[in-house]
Amino acid sequence: MADTATLIGRPSIGQPTRRVDGPLKVSGGARYAGEYFADDLLHGYVVSGSIAKGRILSIDTSAAMAIPGVVEVFTHENRPRTAWFDSKYQDQVAPPGSPFRPLYGDGILYSGQPIALVVAESFEAARDAAALVKATYAPEEHITDLDAVKGQSYVPPKKRSGIAPPPEPRGDAEAAFAKAPVKVHETYRVAVEHHNPMEPFATTVVRDAGGKLTIYDKTQGSQNAQAYVTGVFGLNQSDVTVVNAFVGGAFGIGLRPQHQLFLAVMAAQALERSVRVVLTRDQMFTLSYRPETIQTLSLGSAPGGKLDAIMHHAVAGTSHFEDYQEVVVNWAGLLYGCDNVKLSYELAKIDTYTPSDMRAPGATLGVFALESAMDELAYAAGVDPLQLRLTNYADFDQNEDKKFTSKALISCYEQGAERFGWSKRSAEPRSMRDGHELVGWGMATGVWEAKINKTAARASLTETGHLEVSSATSDIGTGTYTVMALTGADAFGLPIEHVTARLGDSSLPTAPVEGGSWAAASTSSAVVDACDKLKQALFKQAQSMPDSPFGNVDFDGVAFRDGRMMLAADEGSSVKLGEIVRSARQHRMEAEGSAAPDSATQKEYVSYTHSAIFVEVKVDEELGVVRVTRIVNAVAAGKILNPKAARSQILGGVVMAMGAALEEETFADHNLGRFMNHNFAEYHVPVNADVQDIDVIFVEEPDDKTSPIGAKGIGEIGIVGTTAAIANAVYHATGKRIRDLPITIDKIL
Ligand code: MOS
Repeated sequence: MADTATLIGRPSIGQPTRRVDGPLKVSGGARYAGEYFADDLLHGYVVSGSIAKGRILSIDTSAAMAIPGVVEVFTHENRPRTAWFDSKYQDQVAPPGSPFRPLYGDGILYSGQPIALVVAESFEAARDAAALVKATYAPEEHITDLDAVKGQSYVPPKKRSGIAPPPEPRGDAEAAFAKAPVKVHETYRVAVEHHNPMEPFATTVVRDAGGKLTIYDKTQGSQNAQAYVTGVFGLNQSDVTVVNAFVGGAFGIGLRPQHQLFLAVMAAQALERSVRVVLTRDQMFTLSYRPETIQTLSLGSAPGGKLDAIMHHAVAGTSHFEDYQEVVVNWAGLLYGCDNVKLSYELAKIDTYTPSDMRAPGATLGVFALESAMDELAYAAGVDPLQLRLTNYADFDQNEDKKFTSKALISCYEQGAERFGWSKRSAEPRSMRDGHELVGWGMATGVWEAKINKTAARASLTETGHLEVSSATSDIGTGTYTVMALTGADAFGLPIEHVTARLGDSSLPTAPVEGGSWAAASTSSAVVDACDKLKQALFKQAQSMPDSPFGNVDFDGVAFRDGRMMLAADEGSSVKLGEIVRSARQHRMEAEGSAAPDSATQKEYVSYTHSAIFVEVKVDEELGVVRVTRIVNAVAAGKILNPKAARSQILGGVVMAMGAALEEETFADHNLGRFMNHNFAEYHVPVNADVQDIDVIFVEEPDDKTSPIGAKGIGEIGIVGTTAAIANAVYHATGKRIRDLPITIDKIL
């Protein structure tokens, strides 16, 4: 796809670029889903149920209805009938099963389930009235403790779309493990975590006089939300527009529509008014979460650490109504070369809401276990942990028997180790000290899939020479606006100020949910394609202009820069782009482009991002306090489109890994079947004081197959493996192997 025109005009991809949406965000100009208004706006407040399982016997709304300003209280007894009651519509990201339908009936499936929506003229009236809704229940026995049901685990009978089940076993892992001279066999756990984006879920439904809905929703996919609303309410696509122009973080919790969307649309339709519903921080803990997973890892090796057997088994919790699945164990058959591998993944049902994707779903858990076990193997075999990884380096994917489109993981190990000073490490645990603190150095490998997903984009040039690039993709804080604008600017050789990026609107060209680290590579590739097509259209038009300098050249002979089309061989011969548009008697010329995975490439190749993480911790021997003083995360992710945003993504992933390793844990009271620490006071995430020196390296990784633009993705790789590197550093500091995240003080002392 490289032609002269694009090469000359593409100086800015790869240059650190400031967020084009930054000024709007810091000045309050960026509006989020709960910040839209309408003259007839009503406010909805969700009433959450208080038992984990059973039936609602009665629900008394009379006191709530008596509050001045209350318009209606919806419950399962008076809710309008929707198309969903007959069709069980599933959203694009739904796992196999039967999605939760708010207010469907009197059944209670999990603690915190919405049992009523109070709608009032003011938010305050709705909130006050919600406290007066009284329900009585017939509770049934619930189980929310995974340990109580792990013995009843099962292989999911229906595979979740897009999630690879474990590969078939290869060799004879059990026999190889039995006779291996060096062995590790341990169980690893990670606590339930909640996503905790800054912006809570919110939906504002603006209903016009004709009944058309413009829905401002916090979601990672406007078209997924639009399809959900039309499917669930039996509406026409042309009557529903979903806008998610700005999203205040999501981490996966916004992939699936959440219940405030259903409730807001239901109320708007029933009352023929505009309605806003915002969830509270507490209620954010009644939605999905990263599933609790119990993992067993068995590694067997030769005396020098060469792996001969890998077995990885995981049991993960899911709800009674859906079989949520993620890729937990496959990484153990991918990351290292080994001929005897057995991987298995099972689910067990508990009485909670369905878990969901949370940043690097599956890998965050599975690679923690694998990379902890590898560290244990290094000690058992008496080899350096980095050397152990090099000894077992995989240069093709044994799971699928395919080549990598690129894999610069060796460079990650080398450059990361060099920057960190790994060679100065003394191997013995508790052998390094700084005053009253024990010093520990640990490392791990990270891996995440590099995918692109079918995505369309439009490029549009105005008569004033301004470029607009657009796609229905989302920007959840990741930098999609910027990378789209950068790609458009690059394609036309325009200053970025002359380019506008539009996204977050279901009426724009088709794009999937933003997730899986595929948005930047997919959207940018689609924007490049759209720009290429627009440039060709402009070229054709320019050739037909009177006295055109382009009459005798073909498309390869022109270049685009600074708002002009010029002869590549004679830059003095040029025409303004706006003039070309005007010569077509148009206000704008536009073209659509797209990007999709290449099936021929996929037959032979797989594509992954990789990283090597090196961590220093200091542990107060008497208090057990762990400080993460230094992290080097070296990443191989193909072409880095915007190094500034990419670095921020890795920093975010690393900080989230610090949370998972040391702080984040949602506690359930299994007697009540409820998550107890449902607020930021009691659910701890890292704060600025916890974050010290984080160094991000992007290694060179040329790749002409992973995506048309050569980029992989960087939204998730930063968290993968980093938790293990921290745990391994804690072991090196203290001699205590903690296999149960988070590593809190009580576990260290
Ligand atoms: Mo990501 S967990 O695919 O939003």
